Amino acid sequence: MKNNKYFNIENIIKDVKLNQKFPFQSIVINSKKFDIKKKINLYNNNKFSNYWLLRDLLIKNNGSISEIKKNLYMRYGGDEIAHKILDDLELKDKLKNYKILNAGSGFGSDLIEHAYLLPNSSFIGIEYNKKYADLSCKIVHSLGLEQRIKIYCADLSNTEDLLKIRDKEGLFDGVYSNLAVLHIKNKNLVYENIYKLMKENTKFRNEDYINDSLTDIKFAEEKIGCQNLKTISEMYEIAEQVGYKNSLFEELTNSWKIFTKERAINYANLRKKKSKIKEDFLNDVSYFFSLKNGAGGVFIHTK
Ligand SMILES: C[S@@+](CC[C@H](N)C(=O)[O-])C[C@H]1O[C@@H](n2cnc3c(N)ncnc32)[C@H](O)[C@@H]1O
Repeated sequence: MKNNKYFNIENIIKDVKLNQKFPFQSIVINSKKFDIKKKINLYNNNKFSNYWLLRDLLIKNNGSISEIKKNLYMRYGGDEIAHKILDDLELKDKLKNYKILNAGSGFGSDLIEHAYLLPNSSFIGIEYNKKYADLSCKIVHSLGLEQRIKIYCADLSNTEDLLKIRDKEGLFDGVYSNLAVLHIKNKNLVYENIYKLMKENTKFRNEDYINDSLTDIKFAEEKIGCQNLKTISEMYEIAEQVGYKNSLFEELTNSWKIFTKERAINYANLRKKKSKIKEDFLNDVSYFFSLKNGAGGVFIHTK
């Protein structure tokens, strides 16, 4: 047995306990391709995220929403962004039964927030990392939301995977993605695949990093796991080629500069035991925005 954190006995026992307590799991669409290390090396190491912390919280305390929420987000904005996403998608009617897709759902933070904001709607997450996909299901289960939030473990850049999901779920009233497309090399394919899952006149909101032409692409690839970052006009072109009839972009670079700096400082100042891998990662992201011309914002594409 490999001698690393995931494969030690203590961890196996914890996983069994967690599965017994919350048996809800992600639906695996195409298991043979889930080599996370090859695809996005960054996500092969759970130490840079709050994976272990969230798992321990679930085992210990039946999932207190405030404790879990504090550690759920992998990006800036928290609840505020969850509201903004629904505004941008024009999906705000609490009485309606929308079907909403989150592409690259991570630990499920936005899906959970949206399930509270839209109590009659249902939600689907697509997440490539099996460990995140399963953990998000258990978080959802601990909050009693498993009837309204379903997670598929699938690859957004794989057309077959997404068409299988469309066969099972039908078309969506809105799609959003937060900091996931930046990790995927073939952005045309992701845009095309998502387009096929949308109803006519609905919106795809993609919060993403971009290449502002001065961006240090090598740093972005090596340190942050970005692949093939595009300029705003290149993204517009992709959207137009795919068939989206209208695209908008809202710049968020300055907010990210401030947020990533504060986040790195706060983490470095924590007194309790820290993960060196996470500390280095947070410093790299902050450095990217302050000195390596990192840039990004929100695209809104209408089908
Ligand atoms: C920075 S995290 C953001 C997670 C979440 N959207 C949030 O805002 O907290 C990016 C997520 O995208 C997922 N991802 C990357 N490539 C993917 C792909 N090809 N298909 C599905 N998910 C992918 C990663 O596994 C990761 O969980």
